[in-house]
Order: sequence, then structure tokens, then C-alpha cells
Amino acid sequence: MIRLRGVHKRFGPLTVLNGVDLDIYAGQTTVVLGPSGTGKSVMLKHIVGLLQPDAGTVSLGGQRVDNLNERELVGVRKRVGFLFQLGALFDSMSVGQNVAFPLVAHTSLNAAARAARVERLLSMVGLARTQDKMPSEMSGGQQKRVALARAIALEPEIMLYDEPTTGLDPIRSDVINELIINLTRRLGMTSIVVTHDMNSARKIADRMVLLYDGRVAADDAPDAFLRSENELVQRFIRGQADHRDLDLIRRGFERVPGPAGQNRRRGDVADPGRLGTVSSPESSGAFHE
Ligand SMILES: Nc1ncnc2c1ncn2[C@@H]1O[C@H](COP(=O)(O)OP(=O)(O)O)[C@@H](O)[C@H]1O
Ligand SMILES: [Mg+2]
Repeated sequence: MIRLRGVHKRFGPLTVLNGVDLDIYAGQTTVVLGPSGTGKSVMLKHIVGLLQPDAGTVSLGGQRVDNLNERELVGVRKRVGFLFQLGALFDSMSVGQNVAFPLVAHTSLNAAARAARVERLLSMVGLARTQDKMPSEMSGGQQKRVALARAIALEPEIMLYDEPTTGLDPIRSDVINELIINLTRRLGMTSIVVTHDMNSARKIADRMVLLYDGRVAADDAPDAFLRSENELVQRFIRGQADHRDLDLIRRGFERVPGPAGQNRRRGDVADPGRLGTVSSPESSGAFHE
């Protein structure tokens, strides 16, 4: 359904994607895991042509999309819905206007048909009769759901979700997980979900992929993926920091003259007046977080 082959992308001196090979199968939810800054969002943007590779190919259902111009990409973007990392609602428009936006731009539905479609979309995400609210009147989780209703308004075959549960509490995250599962299973959508939320990954994934250092480091069914002996996978699942990162952080701390001189142990927080806010390596979560 979606195929990436040898995709390379760099920004100036920074190589982000370094030969990504990936197949996404129709009707499945593929979860893409990986440390932050590893190129997950950049990879998603290649699938909708928001970015073009320096080398390699991206195709959707057998059609190359990496070499299309903006006009040709309009068709691709109707087939692929994108829930951006930051909800990206239009603040000055009502909820209803936000959801109607792609319908106005890309369909010939009249106002009544549009209103009916907007109502149905908002019901699907559990927000019936909120058309007249402004985004600022809604919680973060509700705004995500409005953005989701907008993203699926044109009934895309493929949905890309960039960190849909980041910043949401577990209950609100579960509402989003439930919506993703329903959209995939009931509407037969193909989904790619970028996340570093393992709880969410376990619930929704038909397949798990780990992106690391610009390449696909692991790619398997969830059971096999979670049992994998791949060190990177295990480290990610257990949320351990990369030893190279820890070493860098420790060396950074050693250079800071602290009040306790040589006696400071790893993880002790040095004088915040000198450092600003620094969290200890132990509290800093997985990898580069
Ligand atoms: N348009 C851009 N221009 C320059 N650098 C970028 C751009 N987009 C992303 N990057 C850099 O590419 C790297 C990967 O970014 P991203 O894909 O957003 O990571 P993540 O895996 O957290 O989603 C980061 O170092 C980011 O700063
Ligand atoms: Mg990202």
C-alpha cells in the first residue's frame, strides 16, 4: 500500500533519514516508535509530499508520490489524512468551520449537506453538537478529536497520526486509541501512528516499527517485536536512556563546578543558579527526551 525505498533526507549537515525501507500494509495500524528527533515526523511528511527525499522513492498503491508537483499532490492529500503533532486547528474559526474546511475546499457539497457531514464527523469523535464552540473553549483532548474529525472529513484511505496522545492524560489518550482502532477496523482505513507512548502502541498496533538513526531498526508483529532480542527494541520498551546519551550528560555535569566539588554523584542536580533547569539523567525518560 505504502512503500518507502532507500529514502534519504538531510537538512544542511544533518542527515535525518539514512536509507529508510518500509512497507505499510493496507487495513492495518502500523505504529512507528523511536526516540525523539530521529525523523519520525519527517518520514510521515514524505508520505504526503510535504517533504521530498534527496534519494529513494515513496509510493502509494504503486504510484510514485516523491516526484509530484503541488498540483498533482492535491490528489494524494485527499487520499491521506494527517493528524499533525500540534493539533493545528484554526483558532479564529468555530469547531464546525474547522471540520467543514476540507469539505469547502475539495467537495461540491452544498451548505446543508456539509452541515450534515460535519455533524456526523463530530458524532464519530464523541463531540456531537459542538459546532458553534471555539477551539479555545475545548480541552486539549477535545481539540485533538476535532482535528481528527477534520482529518477524516474527506474519508481518506490512509490516516497518518503524529503523536496523537502526547500531552494527554491516560483517560483522554484511551479515547484517541479507541478512535484509531475503530477507524481502522470499521472503516478499513490504513493507519500509521507515530508515538513513543508504549501503552498506546500495545493497544492499537497490528505492526510495530522502530526507527533509529535514520533507518528502520526493527519491524514485526507486536508479539514478536516486544519479545525481540534486538537491544534497541528492548531499550526503547524499557524506556532506558541510550548509554551514549547518558555518557554525554555525565560528562557535561563533570564540567560544571558544583558546590560539593568532587563528591557529586551521578544524577545529583548541581547549583540551579548556574545551570538553569537541568533534570537528572534518571528522570529524563527514554533516549534523547
Ligand atoms: N524542515 C526542517 N528543517 C531543518 N531541520 C528539520 C526540519 N524538519 C525536521 N528537522 C530536524 O530533523 C530531525 C528529525 O526531526 P523529526 O522528524 O521532527 O523528529 P521526530 O522523530 O521527533 O518526529 C530533528 O533534528 C529536526 O530538528
Ligand atoms: Mg515528531
